[in-house]
Amino acid sequence: MSEIRVLVNGARGKMGATTVAAVRAAEGMTLVAETDLGDALADAIRTSRADVVVDFTHPGSVFENCRTILSAGAHGVIGTTGLSASQLEELSQLCARIEKNLLVAPNFAIGAILMMRFAAEAAPWMDRCEIIERHHDGKADAPSGTALKTAELVAAARADIPWKTGAAEKETLPGSRGGQASGLRIHSVRLPGYLAHQEVVFGAAGQTLVIRHDSLDRNCFMPGVILAVRKVAALPGLTYGLERLLFG
Ligand SMILES: NC(=O)c1ccc[n+]([C@@H]2O[C@H](COP(=O)([O-])OP(=O)(O)OC[C@H]3O[C@@H](n4cnc5c(N)ncnc54)[C@H](OP(=O)(O)O)[C@@H]3O)[C@@H](O)[C@H]2O)c1
Repeated sequence: MSEIRVLVNGARGKMGATTVAAVRAAEGMTLVAETDLGDALADAIRTSRADVVVDFTHPGSVFENCRTILSAGAHGVIGTTGLSASQLEELSQLCARIEKNLLVAPNFAIGAILMMRFAAEAAPWMDRCEIIERHHDGKADAPSGTALKTAELVAAARADIPWKTGAAEKETLPGSRGGQASGLRIHSVRLPGYLAHQEVVFGAAGQTLVIRHDSLDRNCFMPGVILAVRKVAALPGLTYGLERLLFG
């Protein structure tokens, strides 16, 4: 089988640089180009004849990058967060038209995928749930894509059972109860010292259950990224979430 030709976009960034090293070390793939802000991505894809582009850039540019990747004839493995539901829908249609694939994963850490799965499993059995996510202070978006995805999965697992409600509450300080997504409260902490951490906290009478994942080093994302690079060509259209590769 021929080697997969990989271009890393955002290669000077923290995740991009880690991906460059991981692709170089992986069997069955060749790093054919590195691009970053200011480079002509479409030209680089065509010149390098990249099969797959890995994108770790910025939430403000990821949608346009995805369109460029597909239009230039490559598959995309997208780790950059911040794509909205309507943008994902638009990209899914573009994938179908162009017959190139995107794998978009808000979290490539396999432990984080397991955290989400275990949280979905717990959801029907507990009364309430809130999410606390902590990230480094350089993160551009809040809440994290992982927190949004977790809320979506937990809510779906609980679709037929309403959550128990507490006493009526009034925020005397606006925002103190966090934001809401899929009916769950999400609290985002941004501080130097953190990398990426999340707790899914369940409560019921007389007990709490905390499902927690900590990314301590950016290498934790690399097995997931490399797996996605290997598989994306065989996953028609837009695939959202690494779990599709792990659990089918
Ligand atoms: N899916 C996952 O598992 C996962 C894990 C960790 C992080 N992330 C996400 O990955 C993204 C990058 O994170 P990071 O920590 O690596 O950020 P970072 O260190 O700031 O790196 C981003 C890099 O992309 C460059 N860039 C910005 N806009 C660009 C564009 N339009 N075209 C090409 N390059 C561009 C930046 O250049 P400048 O510095 O010059 O702006 C920088 O070199 C974030 O959205 C983050 O939330 C995802």
